[in-house]
Amino acid sequence: MVKTKPIGRAVFSLFLIPLIVKYQAAVVDIKTKGAKGDGKTDDGPAIMSAWKEACGGLLGGGLLPETVLIPPGTYFAAPIQLKGPCKGPIEIKATGATIKAPPEVAKFKTDGWIEIEGVDKLTMTGGNYDGQGQATWKSNNCASTRVCKLPANIRLTNCKNAVVKDLTSTNSKFFHMNILGCDNSNLDHVTINAPGTSLNTDGIHIGRLNGLNITNTNIKTGDDCISFGDGSKNVHIDKVTCGPGHGISIGSLGRYPGELPVQGIWIKNCTITGTDNGVRIKSWPAGTPGTASDMHFEDIIMQKVGNPILVDQEYCPSGKCQKGPSKTKLSNVSFRKIKGSSTTKVAVKLICSPGTCDTFEIADINLQGPGGPATSECKNIKPKVVGQVVPPACP
Ligand SMILES: *[C@@H]1O[C@H](CO)[C@@H](O)[C@H](O)[C@H]1NC(C)=O
Ligand SMILES: *[C@@H]1O[C@H](CO)[C@@H](O)[C@H](O)[C@H]1NC(C)=O
Ligand SMILES: *[C@@H]1O[C@H](CO)[C@@H](O)[C@H](O)[C@H]1NC(C)=O
Repeated sequence: MVKTKPIGRAVFSLFLIPLIVKYQAAVVDIKTKGAKGDGKTDDGPAIMSAWKEACGGLLGGGLLPETVLIPPGTYFAAPIQLKGPCKGPIEIKATGATIKAPPEVAKFKTDGWIEIEGVDKLTMTGGNYDGQGQATWKSNNCASTRVCKLPANIRLTNCKNAVVKDLTSTNSKFFHMNILGCDNSNLDHVTINAPGTSLNTDGIHIGRLNGLNITNTNIKTGDDCISFGDGSKNVHIDKVTCGPGHGISIGSLGRYPGELPVQGIWIKNCTITGTDNGVRIKSWPAGTPGTASDMHFEDIIMQKVGNPILVDQEYCPSGKCQKGPSKTKLSNVSFRKIKGSSTTKVAVKLICSPGTCDTFEIADINLQGPGGPATSECKNIKPKVVGQVVPPACP
């Protein structure tokens, strides 16, 4: 028994050496695939080629995480599609790199600039993804046509167990990040940056997924900081700052047939500054049936925010909607420990359709209006009031 020990160790090291060699080799630098990094040449093909190799697990054999490395520098890249499944976990590491999109919308035939689809255990680390959307915001006619054929900066579809960290998205043409069908994922220390005047640039749009945490994230943009589409489930938002922008928004819901339920949304410890809305839930009048439940907003600081607490079941941005009650049922909703200043006199606005809002709680609210006390406005709702609530909600 005593003699076999060193042999065991030798055999073990023999296995380990090739593994270490492979581990070091499992980084595919896009420069080895022809990327120039001069800020002018289209380095998209080099990124896609590095992805193909890393995703195919040629080097690590799928045993070890593979890395697509975008080294520090400035790159230009036309639309990029990265598809899974991959042989194993995969990371795109762009720490210190800025990647710029073509400014012209005409160069896009896709819904996103960086599109990643069907990858399990994707990690995106670092990098500044610059959508160069300035010209697009000026010519954007989404508001009048109500259809937006514009690319999101980063679009992740069906990427389960994804991690996005220390990444920046700048001046997107449309949504900065669109995260669809990516169950059990985490975004941490993400920065989103666009001016308040950039049209339709939602920060992070979430839809049809179960399990997503967004933490330590700063969002400055021209539309909703975070928006939830139908089918959003078990999403925790923690330590997020928002503003400028349109606030944090669940919905709009009830616009399309077959929408999936929204369930389990926690928005906690956030600071919202200088936005047109704070936290809101919105659904279309008339519209299609659906449900949204278990939505909790807690420990939120509002600084000069319009409509800090808003439930709007008569959401009609164009002013030209069908008339009738919303068919979106809202239940088990709480607003707790929300404090600060409102730029609109009505700081708490809860507009429901008859019989659609059930089990609401309003607790420990202290919101001041512009130059005086704020008020509340309520329709078809009787929330449970707990602790001190200023302005008095639905008296
Ligand atoms: C998100 O956070 C919650 C609460 O901290 C935790 O229970 C959940 O597992 C986390 N989800 C993911 C996908 O990490
Ligand atoms: C979260 O709460 C801590 C402790 O109260 C506070 O220092 C911090 O500023 C808060 N973060 C946000 C984003 O509101
Ligand atoms: C309300 O939502 C919370 C959080 O999801 C959940 O724990 C609780 O059971 C729900 N209450 C009701 C009455 O459904």
